[in-house]
Amino acid sequence: MTSHVTAYRAAILHSLADPAEVGIEQSYEYFEDGVLIVENGRVIEVGPADQLLPKLQGIDVQEYRDALITPGFIDTHIHYPQTGMIASYGEQLLDWLNTYTFPTEQQFADKAHAADVAGIFLKELLRNGTTTALVFGSVHKQSVDAFFEAAEALDLRMIAGKVMMDRNAPDYLTDTPESSYADSKELIERWHGKGRLHYAVTPRFAPTSTPEQLALAGRLFAEFPDLYMHTHLSENRAEIEWVKELFPKRSGYLDVYDHYQLIGPRAVFAHGVHLCDAECQRLAETGSAVAFCPTSNLFLGSGLFDLEKLEQHGVRVGLGTDVGAGTSFSQLQSLNEAYKVMQLQGKKLDPFKSLYLATLGGARALYLDHQIGNFATGKDADFVVLDYNATPLISYRMQQAKSLEEKLFALTILGDDRAVKETFAAGRRVHSRD
Ligand code: GUN
Ligand code: ZN
Repeated sequence: MTSHVTAYRAAILHSLADPAEVGIEQSYEYFEDGVLIVENGRVIEVGPADQLLPKLQGIDVQEYRDALITPGFIDTHIHYPQTGMIASYGEQLLDWLNTYTFPTEQQFADKAHAADVAGIFLKELLRNGTTTALVFGSVHKQSVDAFFEAAEALDLRMIAGKVMMDRNAPDYLTDTPESSYADSKELIERWHGKGRLHYAVTPRFAPTSTPEQLALAGRLFAEFPDLYMHTHLSENRAEIEWVKELFPKRSGYLDVYDHYQLIGPRAVFAHGVHLCDAECQRLAETGSAVAFCPTSNLFLGSGLFDLEKLEQHGVRVGLGTDVGAGTSFSQLQSLNEAYKVMQLQGKKLDPFKSLYLATLGGARALYLDHQIGNFATGKDADFVVLDYNATPLISYRMQQAKSLEEKLFALTILGDDRAVKETFAAGRRVHSRD
């Protein structure tokens, strides 16, 4: 392969560590006039323009004015089949599932429909600067084939899986323990580790799986290296009561998953809004992760996520949109709502912590921080160009800003897809706004 070097010049910002561990100042690196050098889809070097430009004789340098380059955003929880039902009115979780979600997901029995929606969904992610996501399919294995085919064509780093669901859902949407195991295994063999794709064993949530299905899901999770496990946990009070009725022998919601060995590194639980200390402790000691989905938690009235509590226990936390219960594909908008969730609890969310959650923190939650999340040499060149002049108001606000911190904060509050000028995946431009 002939090597291909490209360089990008703008303000450049990336996370180096969790601000909770090293303090704000040590948590990031910023070059006001920076250059990012990319070769064959990987980061070669990032640094100040005055030092790097002399080394780049004869190399194409793409320059951006009034722009900030950051790593691509990472969405640790989203449902692609729910794209078309985003913003559905009026229900909390369990009624919302029955009223809107299940009928919508039924349509994914048709592979052509699934392929159409996968295309729309990936385009929307990239328009919003999200380059990696952990994605629910539907119960139909062809929904996951359609998704991975679309992601592979764009050479994206994506994680997805077929929903396993064998009770408490309409007949048209249920599988069986045996069929869910066999179909998931077939998909793993076809897709897991192919290019930048990874597979997640995906029991929807404890109420829609029999103990037999959860046992087989646990077996499958242990059977292949580096698989993910992706489900929901402690999102809504009525849901939690229902889990107690369905699994009376278990000590709590997390204990159901624990009992069936659906816990550990690369196990990602969406929500965790109502976790007790013992559950946080167990998540931390097993290396499991939780996806904080602020727009969804507010939209479904689920509750306020206690980021500080999970952090104090040492739980890995990523940021999720949870579309279609979430109301935006934009991780900037997730951060806007996350800030408000913290405010409602009398707490703060520093903008550099926000950056971390949307990038390196997500990569750590997914055990992908050796490949994505910042601009360390050798990582995938997945990045976004954010536009300080995206809208008249953003542009005017940026003119008033006196510090990077202030600009970053305003971008997370005011920004959305309009702020994403370009998105790159493995060094290729996969979205251009203008
Ligand atoms: N719990 C089980 N299924 C779902 C779903 O599709 N969305 C959300 N937000 N929670 C769930
Ligand atoms: Zn969800």
